[in-house]
Amino acid sequence: MICIKLPHTDFEVSEIAFGAWAIVGGFNWGPQDEKDSIDALRTAYEEGINFFDTAEMYGSGASENLIHKALGEVRNKIIIATKLKPADYAYADVKKATEERLKALSTDRLDLLQLHWPNPEIPVEETMRALSELKQEGKIRAYGVSNFGKQQLQEATKYADEISSNQLPYNLLWRAIEYEVLPECKQDNIPILCYSPIMQGLLTGKFADAGSVPDDRARTRHFSSERPQARHSEEGCEDLTFETIDKIRKIAEEYGKPMAEISIAWLLSQPAVGSVIVGGRNGEQVRKNVKALDCKLDDDVLQKLNEATQPLKEKLGNRADLWEGKSRIQ
Ligand SMILES: NC(=O)c1ccc[n+]([C@@H]2O[C@H](COP(=O)([O-])OP(=O)(O)OC[C@H]3O[C@@H](n4cnc5c(N)ncnc54)[C@H](OP(=O)(O)O)[C@@H]3O)[C@@H](O)[C@H]2O)c1
Repeated sequence: MICIKLPHTDFEVSEIAFGAWAIVGGFNWGPQDEKDSIDALRTAYEEGINFFDTAEMYGSGASENLIHKALGEVRNKIIIATKLKPADYAYADVKKATEERLKALSTDRLDLLQLHWPNPEIPVEETMRALSELKQEGKIRAYGVSNFGKQQLQEATKYADEISSNQLPYNLLWRAIEYEVLPECKQDNIPILCYSPIMQGLLTGKFADAGSVPDDRARTRHFSSERPQARHSEEGCEDLTFETIDKIRKIAEEYGKPMAEISIAWLLSQPAVGSVIVGGRNGEQVRKNVKALDCKLDDDVLQKLNEATQPLKEKLGNRADLWEGKSRIQ
């Protein structure tokens, strides 16, 4: 496993990270057996992953608790990235919520503390001041942002010159960040941590059509606003999405690799990408996903994948918010 050093840190993270959202089940994911969650986390570690992404918002601390339960014994060998929720961005709340995250993870320091989504209601200057102090005090080793667009990054970097990462939605079916956010991250030397890299399972080819995708995963702007949990008012582009999946499937078949591997490997070839955060609900999925590391895509395949996904990229446009029509990522 190749590891990269995030800027303004004294640690290295694996280029595939484990995403610890789905392992709490519930919202977006449905029922989940804790044994499988523990198995997923320990398998990730055994397969060479040292980077674990979690958040308070994943089960109100349940995901953080699980990381401690599964990997507490190897705490010093792993890098834990957690996130504060936007309601906690006022100066005093940042400090208080950080203490709560330390407790939830049963640890004495956070490796990477991220702001989960921008919050236009609270001046970013105030939030960044609190994060910088926490870093100086040694409570956190580094801080990063998540879902910050070009303008939001430009504003944040006025007040913080040690932003170590920006976590963003990025995959073959969601290339919106390529228009503005990715070039900004590249210019600012802020690595991208890609989330939903296999589009919550769509890029494994497990769903035959839009109707087979469970409603909670069909909240994204690929799907019609008539889906019950949609938070946008767009018509969606379900036919184009599934035509694109078919094209990717054919390219993967020609290459002799599963679609999920090809999809993760494509991300690892993109500029400004620091690590790819893949979710897995059990050890078996994790083992399959890390195989992407053996999949070195040549320029010809990368080109074919770019061409196959370009019409969907153009249809969805440059608004980088997966779920809401009025993008929160600005
Ligand atoms: N910063 C943010 O706002 C934000 C937002 C979203 C996610 N994230 C982070 O990014 C991580 C990853 O994103 P994600 O969980 O949304 O999506 P993802 O990684 O694209 O998809 C993960 C899901 O795909 C299915 N899956 C995984 N491997 C599979 C395999 N080999 N074969 C078949 N199915 C497989 C599993 O669900 P099923 O088995 O149920 O199909 C799994 O939960 C999250 O865990 C979280 O840490 C951050």
